[in-house]
Amino acid sequence: MRPLVAGNWKMNHTPTSGETFIKELDGRMDKVDADVVVFPPFVTIPRVVEAARKTRIKVGAQNMFWKDKGAFTGEVSAEMLLDAGVEYVIIGHSERRNIFGESDELINLKLKSALKAGLKPVLCIGEKLEERESGMTMDRIKFQLNADLSGVDVENIVIAYEPIWAIGTGRTATPEQAEEVHGFISEFLGGGVKILYGGSVKPTNAYQLMVQPHIDGVLVGGASLKPDTFYDIILAGLKAFEEKR
Ligand code: 13P
Repeated sequence: MRPLVAGNWKMNHTPTSGETFIKELDGRMDKVDADVVVFPPFVTIPRVVEAARKTRIKVGAQNMFWKDKGAFTGEVSAEMLLDAGVEYVIIGHSERRNIFGESDELINLKLKSALKAGLKPVLCIGEKLEERESGMTMDRIKFQLNADLSGVDVENIVIAYEPIWAIGTGRTATPEQAEEVHGFISEFLGGGVKILYGGSVKPTNAYQLMVQPHIDGVLVGGASLKPDTFYDIILAGLKAFEEKR
């Protein structure tokens, strides 16, 4: 098994700075036996795909709509992403759910559309702080898995557990808190599905997270924006997986 280290750039990196990022990261990637994926904003994707073409870095999108085409102003379809050279797509990120009002029903439709087109979806789930504090974490996770994955074959899906209180706050889940939820998700899905952790992952905590038995990689926001910190997280993943072998 190899770690999957994913960088969600969110609304950061222009086409120009995205291309520079790939060149700098690739310069260090010689012997890296990890799956590395970056998720640029839509307009940055083509230049990043081009720059990443002869490298081992893969490219994903942060969102998509579920219809194939038509009158859906501002939206992008799975087929368009695939044609642009995209391999992965994040679905149901908590910022999409909370800022843009995406429902579990919509997320379910998006997952089905991504899979039908041949993209690899990264489904994000996670509880709010109030839910954790009132002991509802596993209920919330179970609810999201049931609703989002209804009628979906999980074989080609990656799950990202991102507790909302840990995103962009510097307050990472402890390795034990993360492992507990990852173990639960893994059992719920019957094993065999890659489960990433996300939420304030940094070079300093990445090893302790990825060394946990059910943490298969990380989905990194802020610390994925600079090639050197992102690379340090990749190295932490390699070390953790060496230990788990
Ligand atoms: P941060 O790493 O900035 O907390 O963001 C996590 C995230 O939302 C990744 O999708």
